[in-house]
Amino acid sequence: MIPSSSSPIGIFDSGIGGLLIAKEIKIHMPNECIIYFGDTANMPYGDKSKEFIKKYSIKIASFLYKKKCKAIVIACNTIVSNALEIIKKEFCKKLLIFNVIEPVIKNNTLISSKKIGIMATPATIRSNFFPKKIKKYFHHLDLDIVQMETPLLASIIENGFEKKKIHSIIEYYLNHLKSIDTLLLACTHYLFIKNEINNFYHGKVRIIDVQKIVVQDIQKKLYENNLFHPNPTWNNNPISIFYTSSSVSSFFKKQVQIFFGKKVFFKTHIFNFF
Ligand code: DGL
Repeated sequence: MIPSSSSPIGIFDSGIGGLLIAKEIKIHMPNECIIYFGDTANMPYGDKSKEFIKKYSIKIASFLYKKKCKAIVIACNTIVSNALEIIKKEFCKKLLIFNVIEPVIKNNTLISSKKIGIMATPATIRSNFFPKKIKKYFHHLDLDIVQMETPLLASIIENGFEKKKIHSIIEYYLNHLKSIDTLLLACTHYLFIKNEINNFYHGKVRIIDVQKIVVQDIQKKLYENNLFHPNPTWNNNPISIFYTSSSVSSFFKKQVQIFFGKKVFFKTHIFNFF
């Protein structure tokens, strides 16, 4: 199958985190059709083994490939840091593969930092993906990296967090991450609480604009590969479908409708792994 510019973009995450990447794509590339997959039945991925993450993410990527996507966006740091290599190996000849980590590191936005804080899930921290990549890419710079695993956050955000509760959890974690000048929200779920985190630091720590960098990268490469969706005049009505692997929660549904309006489709897809 040869994908064309009008084929959809597949985006996946363990749950709602990738929706913010999907939203940014919608803003900058409104003609693109989106097929989103949130593996809500298995969320959080942050406490799963590398083997589990590899196996399930390959299943999801195959699902999106079968839906004739021209590109997939791995909108989950936990999947990227544990399974990027295997996903690239399996699919690089079939479609374009984007992820939420490499463009952020390669963007050079970290050059002006001295001490970078990285907030992520336990599985991302365990993989050591960030320090390895950052040190490889900026081997000539003396960058200090502090990693902090925040295991409670993703599930709380997935379930529709209460502002008050999230505030005390942010304080609990970030009190240990104070002497930094730059912060990387290395879990797409955390992008939902960027303002709250910024308030904690009184705006004095630079928080990297992950969505913007990732979507600029996608836009550029779709153009370069002649896969950017053509002019709106001959397709004003791109379709967006949102799959979850358990019944869709009201919080998930609400976020999608805030970002995409009411003309979207929700479907449940349960994988048979045996
Ligand atoms: N959104 C995912 C990430 O970027 C992780 C959330 C989870 O633990 O499932 O890492």
